Amino acid sequence: MSLARVARLTALLTVLVGVTHGAVRLTTHHGVTGGTLFALAEQRFARASVPESPVLLLIGDSGAASPELRANFRAMAREPALLVLHAGDIGYRGPREYGRFLKAAEALPFPLFAVPGDHDRDADGGYRAWDDLFGGRDRMAEKDGLRIVLLDTAGETVSEASLRFLDEALRRPPPPAPGPRWIVVLMHCPPYRPHPPAPRPLGKGHVIEDADAARRLLDLVRDARVTLMCAGHIHRFEVGDREGVPLVVSGGGGKSVEPGDDFHYVRITLAGPPVIEQVVTSPGSGRRTLAKLGDGVIAESLRTGDRTTIALAAVTTLLFACQRRRRTAR
Ligand SMILES: [Fe+2]
Repeated sequence: MSLARVARLTALLTVLVGVTHGAVRLTTHHGVTGGTLFALAEQRFARASVPESPVLLLIGDSGAASPELRANFRAMAREPALLVLHAGDIGYRGPREYGRFLKAAEALPFPLFAVPGDHDRDADGGYRAWDDLFGGRDRMAEKDGLRIVLLDTAGETVSEASLRFLDEALRRPPPPAPGPRWIVVLMHCPPYRPHPPAPRPLGKGHVIEDADAARRLLDLVRDARVTLMCAGHIHRFEVGDREGVPLVVSGGGGKSVEPGDDFHYVRITLAGPPVIEQVVTSPGSGRRTLAKLGDGVIAESLRTGDRTTIALAAVTTLLFACQRRRRTAR
């Protein structure tokens, strides 16, 4: 193949990649009206009235906008729910994916409270993009008798600052309200792995690695008589109960699931002991290959599109320069 033809082909490729990337950026750029996702959820929660037996929906490890995540959101939108809890791991390919997630989440007519996962870090290991868009990490929201505590365990650890926050959030006197009281603590890495029929020892099994910190967390939630702990990180559905505090782990929101499990969300009904139901929306085996490929291309374009276009443009320029020099030399 002649140098001129290679140069023309590279130029065409540059235009194709550049235009595709531009379109992907344009169509997936999405922010939150009125500030951060937490602020928006707080406003919606404040306007809602908490029913006698509130229904909460839990989803985790969803990635940004896979076909399975969208199927989950469509099914969740039809639920008679009060709010949605997201246990983290959205930006597997970096914070640029958050726009796709926020667009997909518009299908949900409920407040959405989220904690970050280990895959929600910036390239430098921090959480600046998460904090800017989602509104921080250790947070609390409360309406009537329902208190939601968002605890940062993203890095398979729980810091001293986060344990202090949890202690204060659990001790805070509730506002006067008639009826039952519930406290739900949402985190990414669970304090232990339920792994029915027998839980794993603290610190073992893709959980908070520091067994001592996990023990302190469990002591706090037990002493405060927390209603329920919700977590993700493990790409399965598992339920446990330790010292009277139930734990539900749901990591099948849309990224991938472990063999034998399916893509799902969880319906939690707070009535006496919480009623916890796994709602399967897509089989774990037999993902739609084309849809998965399309999702991967968009995600990869968001991650590397700028660099790829620049590199291709540089190679194209070089090739045309070589060709011109060769023609002049003849
Ligand atoms: Fe994770």
